Amino acid sequence: MRHDCIFIGLNTVDALALYHSPLKEDEKIHACQLLTDGGGPSATAACAFSQAGGKAALLSVIGQDAWTPFVLKQLRAYRVDTSLLRLQKGLENPVSLILVNGKNGARTIIWNSQGLSARRLKLTAREKERVMRARCLHFDGHLMPDSITLAGEAKKRGLLVSYDCGSAKPGWEKLAANADFFIASHRFARDLGLPPKKAVQYLRRRFGFHAAVTCGEKGVFYFCERENNVKLLKQRAYKAVDTTGCGDVFHGFFLAAALKDRTFEQALAFAQKAAGLKTRRLGGRAGIPELKA
Ligand SMILES: Nc1ncnc2c1ncn2[C@@H]1O[C@H](COP(=O)(O)OP(=O)(O)OP(=O)(O)O)[C@@H](O)[C@H]1O
Ligand SMILES: [Mg+2]
Repeated sequence: MRHDCIFIGLNTVDALALYHSPLKEDEKIHACQLLTDGGGPSATAACAFSQAGGKAALLSVIGQDAWTPFVLKQLRAYRVDTSLLRLQKGLENPVSLILVNGKNGARTIIWNSQGLSARRLKLTAREKERVMRARCLHFDGHLMPDSITLAGEAKKRGLLVSYDCGSAKPGWEKLAANADFFIASHRFARDLGLPPKKAVQYLRRRFGFHAAVTCGEKGVFYFCERENNVKLLKQRAYKAVDTTGCGDVFHGFFLAAALKDRTFEQALAFAQKAAGLKTRRLGGRAGIPELKA
């Protein structure tokens, strides 16, 4: 099978609790709702991309423990191809604890990737060929050494390269050097020490790719080629219940539209609509809306 996009990076198990009363340390807080969901930036973006109509695979190292059947079931529920996943003995699947403030949808995530950033994929030559047959590779900055190599090779072979840059991880510049689409979070702009608008300008000038920075409920700043300037695509207001996974969903829907030859701005607008709708439900994947690119 030829994949439209292969998503390379982190998969997590998300344990979410929705609360309404103020959080206090060393107290017991009543949860209004509890949910166990699949999570992780690349894995959730793959689910969103698939929901929007694309053929997706996840390339990652996942643990072998009691969560493994759940992890696989959650991905397959979205028809994400799991045949490239490496199951590693002795590795525990990362579980993120997520506290969601039901009043404004703000999420506090306590996480640990179980050392994924330094792990190696060890692809066989045949597997590498399969990866290079895709139309696009999407990276989230985990699995950095292999991501840099794969992005370099993908670029040479004419595949599209997309990078969800959530924070300034070591190696981000090398990965960015081969990106066609670079959509960062406002947290990454903060790491750069720049306001989002300036960050877009700086990134576009330095790397020449399609650049954008998402800013939660405010919207997304992006470089408009037509006007040779940074513009803000405002986000429609929602009564947000949970913003977990909004960025990941944004990326999945963005790529689904971009691979249907929509312009950068059109694809961003589609992604924004999907990410906005996501805020209405608890869970990064449980909240993926039913939209087709
Ligand atoms: N409160 C909100 N209301 C409406 N839309 C939102 C809200 N929060 C996020 N979004 C939508 O989701 C997109 C991505 O959000 P954000 O900038 O918070 O991503 P992120 O920092 O990468 O988060 P994530 O942890 O999900 O990766 C925004 O551009 C916006 O379209
Ligand atoms: Mg993000």
